[in-house]
Amino acid sequence: MTRDQFDRQTWERRWTEALREHGDAVAQRPPNAYALDVAAGLAPGRALDAGCGHGAEAIWLAAAGWTVAAVDFSATALGLARSTAESMGAEVAGRIDWVEGDLGSWAPEPGGFDLVTCLYVHVAGSVPEFVARMAGGVARGGTLLMVGHQPVDPETGEPTPAAGQVQVGVEDVVGVLDASTWRLVVAEERRRAQAGSGVDAVVQAVRVG
Ligand SMILES: C[S@@+](CC[C@H](N)C(=O)[O-])C[C@H]1O[C@@H](n2cnc3c(N)ncnc32)[C@H](O)[C@@H]1O
Repeated sequence: MTRDQFDRQTWERRWTEALREHGDAVAQRPPNAYALDVAAGLAPGRALDAGCGHGAEAIWLAAAGWTVAAVDFSATALGLARSTAESMGAEVAGRIDWVEGDLGSWAPEPGGFDLVTCLYVHVAGSVPEFVARMAGGVARGGTLLMVGHQPVDPETGEPTPAAGQVQVGVEDVVGVLDASTWRLVVAEERRRAQAGSGVDAVVQAVRVG
């Protein structure tokens, strides 16, 4: 596996194929349960979804009253996300800013968001640097949710569908979040529902300083 397998061009190709082969199923894929769970406990504010893909979480957040910035480097994924949002009406669509950007360097406005979610995004560079950059977008009192599919199943030692990717692990995120600034709410690996697909690293933290 090489880093090139997860670059912009490759993701464009993946999204194009996914939409061609099963576009309806992709468009109807439900929002992520961790994100729903976290957001359901918060008052709507400003949210960032970093690596938003087909936009299910961003659209759910907007429908729940959040103002959302949704970033991805795949124009194809963003096109589907935008048209899905538009199909839900001007009020929902108008609350989402779809941003075509590369999370390898894209940085959120410092302290600009009450919720920053980053779900299943492959990290091409330094993981601590990436986590710190995303965390920098969280306002005081705001929440950070980072979720990463782990490449090896800790129970069996077998590779998972995320093999070859670098996604955030629990220690990666916890190691960056200074205890004087962050209160950890969740920091654990959770087994995925699909047999043989291993675990997710899930970290939820509130910025207190
Ligand atoms: C596995 S998908 C997850 C999408 C969504 N977060 C979800 O949970 O359904 C990873 C997404 O991250 C995007 N992505 C990967 N690397 C990126 C980067 N460097 N900059 C922006 N987007 C990136 C891909 O285009 C893809 O849409």
